[in-house]
Amino acid sequence: MAIIVGHRGAAGSAPENTLAGLDRAVELGLEWVEFDTFLASDHQAIVFHDEDLARCTHGSGKVAEHSLEQLQTIDAGVKFAPEFIGQQIPSLRQYLLHAKKLGLKLNLELKYHQQPRQQLAEAVLAEIQHCNFPLSDLLVSSFDHQILLFLHKHASQIDLAQLYEAPPENWQQQLSDINAVACHCNYKELSVAQAKQIKLAGYRLSTYTVNEPTEITALLPWLDMVISDFPERFL
Ligand code: G3P
Ligand code: MG
Repeated sequence: MAIIVGHRGAAGSAPENTLAGLDRAVELGLEWVEFDTFLASDHQAIVFHDEDLARCTHGSGKVAEHSLEQLQTIDAGVKFAPEFIGQQIPSLRQYLLHAKKLGLKLNLELKYHQQPRQQLAEAVLAEIQHCNFPLSDLLVSSFDHQILLFLHKHASQIDLAQLYEAPPENWQQQLSDINAVACHCNYKELSVAQAKQIKLAGYRLSTYTVNEPTEITALLPWLDMVISDFPERFL
């Protein structure tokens, strides 16, 4: 049976990419959570998905044009539901430490929002090290192959996963070039034949974002992980 991973924490039932989402993941009995990270304007790594503040907060403008301190004055919970008022946009450090305390395993997704790749990768590596986050409980993924190449070169001890919408023609070369442990695909773009090929090539295979279990019935035998906003629907 595939491991069910909470998407952006547990985004169906708690505000995405918040510490409350980690608490919710524990309530749901999850072992693994996926979340997104990139840099604030002061180069501190933060936990957030969008480039813009508008969807998840009552703030406005580009996230990357705000410092961590400015971002932490913006409520990241109330727009999801009133009971989550007071949730902050976490720093990566806060998020790693909270997950570590809760014993959660993390799929850290590096979001490439046209920020300097090396700066982003180095900031994330520094936080992982600062928090002494157990590498056995960490899987780092990105759609951006260049960032993964950098991590493979400079932090080869970290497990890497290449994110795709659909696997491109050269997926095997790309996975080999970063010594990937896994490949994460959009289930809507992945055929059963491709899933078999990826598994037979020796990689773990995950699909996102699956909110209706019946939509992956044919793929499920080939999957190691399923990333979902509503993990409770699978459990
Ligand atoms: O990591 C899987 C999934 O989160 C990738 O898409 O846009 O939800 O970060 P997105
Ligand atoms: Mg993500």
